[in-house]
Amino acid sequence: MDRERLRELLRGEGERFVVEHPRSRELFEQGRRTLLAGVPMPWMTEWAGAFPVFVAEASGAHFTDVDGNEYVDFCLGDTGAMTGHSPAATVEAIATQASLGVTLMLPTEDSSWVGEELGRRFGLPYWQFALTATDANRFTTRLARAITGRPKVLVYAWCYHGTVDETFAIAVDGETRSRPNNVGPPVDVAETTKAIEWNDTEALDAALAEGDIACVLAEPAMTNIGIIPPEPGYHDALRSLTREHGALLVIDETHTLCAGPGGYTRAHGLEPDFVTLGKPIAGGVPAAAYGMSAGVADRVAEYLGTLEVTDVGGIGGTLSGNALSLAATRATLEHVLTEEAFERMIRLGERFETGVNDVIAAHGGPWHVTRIGCRVEYGFRPAPPRNGSEAVASTDRELERFLHLHALNRGILMTPFHNMALMCPATTEADVDDHMRAFGEALDALYG
Ligand SMILES: Cc1ncc(COP(=O)(O)O)c(C=O)c1O
Repeated sequence: MDRERLRELLRGEGERFVVEHPRSRELFEQGRRTLLAGVPMPWMTEWAGAFPVFVAEASGAHFTDVDGNEYVDFCLGDTGAMTGHSPAATVEAIATQASLGVTLMLPTEDSSWVGEELGRRFGLPYWQFALTATDANRFTTRLARAITGRPKVLVYAWCYHGTVDETFAIAVDGETRSRPNNVGPPVDVAETTKAIEWNDTEALDAALAEGDIACVLAEPAMTNIGIIPPEPGYHDALRSLTREHGALLVIDETHTLCAGPGGYTRAHGLEPDFVTLGKPIAGGVPAAAYGMSAGVADRVAEYLGTLEVTDVGGIGGTLSGNALSLAATRATLEHVLTEEAFERMIRLGERFETGVNDVIAAHGGPWHVTRIGCRVEYGFRPAPPRNGSEAVASTDRELERFLHLHALNRGILMTPFHNMALMCPATTEADVDDHMRAFGEALDALYG
């Protein structure tokens, strides 16, 4: 690739972005007076433009910014809005429940409905609720340590499971180290964690054989460093080795829920001890859940029964399982993220994958595309990487920035820090084709 040409194109897209977003710029400048870096949370500085686009309104698969520009949203709040923005059934449930009480630290009828439905979808009989997927992961890893009496968590290098301290780890020459940019870690991550590479069965066996792993915390396919599918047989090995060595298996379905109504777990017949999920399950209202097998639930109940109190023990959360989140979750599962919706979304994912493959082939670009259900991602190497370190080696921030900004200037929002597109129930074939037109133009500009 001609890097000078890339830089020139990036400069041009940057200038166009500034000209077409004057009101966003104004709001950003105003925000800088009171907000760190002008935005409400740090990641919002990482969009490809000189400042983020400020949103006026969003509905379904589309949103409009404060300058009146319209977009197709393939980021969908990085999965938080995989339901589409403000789906009618969820909005109605939120409005109704909001007038009947938001949070009480007492259960409502929706809780057991949601537990039953999640059990039907994921094949695990017992459920608990939290507000974020991060907390669902934090609570399951705490419970895993408590019931196994073992100190460590095994994770995959370059994974992301939310802001869980134990997971900011990579593997360097067989050693566990902190990943770069780990903000204020409480202890050396090697004290709490073993990190190995994804798809490396030998390393998994060796790490588990040491007998100090309480649980493996894994996405069923890595998604946060681009999509990295498991190699054939890897999940069988993961399940049999964790059982053999007495470690529990926590499958984090927060992103891989895109595989279908019961996530990757149901689509591929996995048998985890715990499943964690969050983000879109309540249509974007904060809600998360973790499920467990009957055997694990017995051990958890027995362990918790030995405690005098649990409210300051590191699992829970005042607002967890609140009435509003559960009403929104029930409506979302019952009416929005349904079997039929997933069928449509996955068909659109296939259309997106084929379209990207065609554009790449037409331009002879040395790139690849991967898909899990309705989530599609392209990467800058000819074949998908095998593990996180291979994926990191092929990142190209400048190229990524250009593609994102080029798309944004043509009304297409891709997920930041990824080349990821997600389909929601309201996404249409025309939306997918709009992306392909812009993507084709970007590759025309890059490769001539
Ligand atoms: C796989 C996975 N698990 C958990 C989380 C944490 O989600 P949240 O930030 O909503 O707590 C994320 C966030 O991106 C994720 O990708």
